[in-house]
Amino acid sequence: MTEKKLHKHGGKSSEAVLDAKRVLSSIKLVEGEVFMDSGCGDGFISRTASQIVGSKGKILAVDQYSPSLDVLRDKVKKEGIRNLEIIEADLTRKLPLEDEMVDLCLMANVLHGFYYNQELDQVIPELLRILKNGGRLAIVEFKKIEGTPGPPLSSRITAEDVNSALESRGFKSQEELEVGPYHYAVVLIKK
Ligand SMILES: C[S@@+](CC[C@H](N)C(=O)[O-])C[C@H]1O[C@@H](n2cnc3c(N)ncnc32)[C@H](O)[C@@H]1O
Repeated sequence: MTEKKLHKHGGKSSEAVLDAKRVLSSIKLVEGEVFMDSGCGDGFISRTASQIVGSKGKILAVDQYSPSLDVLRDKVKKEGIRNLEIIEADLTRKLPLEDEMVDLCLMANVLHGFYYNQELDQVIPELLRILKNGGRLAIVEFKKIEGTPGPPLSSRITAEDVNSALESRGFKSQEELEVGPYHYAVVLIKK
């Protein structure tokens, strides 16, 4: 039997190369929204998002890697953050979340793994289920440019890859943005 070579999802935080405030203002997160950080890692983006959505909003920080979630849990406690829920879950399976409860879902430096592992048909229908009608999905990925920080070029995906994968799975592409020196974002709307 030949073994399928899967992309190994890294647990590395991108905090050193990605400005959470810039990402969140570019993708237009606003006060009062329910924001899901899918594959949040150590949650540096979730923590910034918690300040933006405020007490009327909510952050759902989802990851399957408990050591990263422990780091986030400590910081949430120390910083007295009260609007952030940590959810240990596998994004390729049914999520412990109700239908149509999320305004904006972010996936930062995560989608390329599902793309190369051919897991999109497990992951995307769940995102569609938990997003409100007209809800947004923001994909942030490393630009596929030689000589820049990030995973090997063979593991990266372009904005065109993101658009074609998600437009055929229930999303409509809305805009492409530059969100840092090494990152782009694609914002899509649930159709
Ligand atoms: C490269 S890290 C990015 C973390 C964070 N978003 C950032 O930009 O710093 C990828 C994250 O996705 C998470 N991840 C990968 N596959 C997952 C899955 N099937 N379910 C939940 N989390 C997953 C990993 O545990 C890891 O924390």
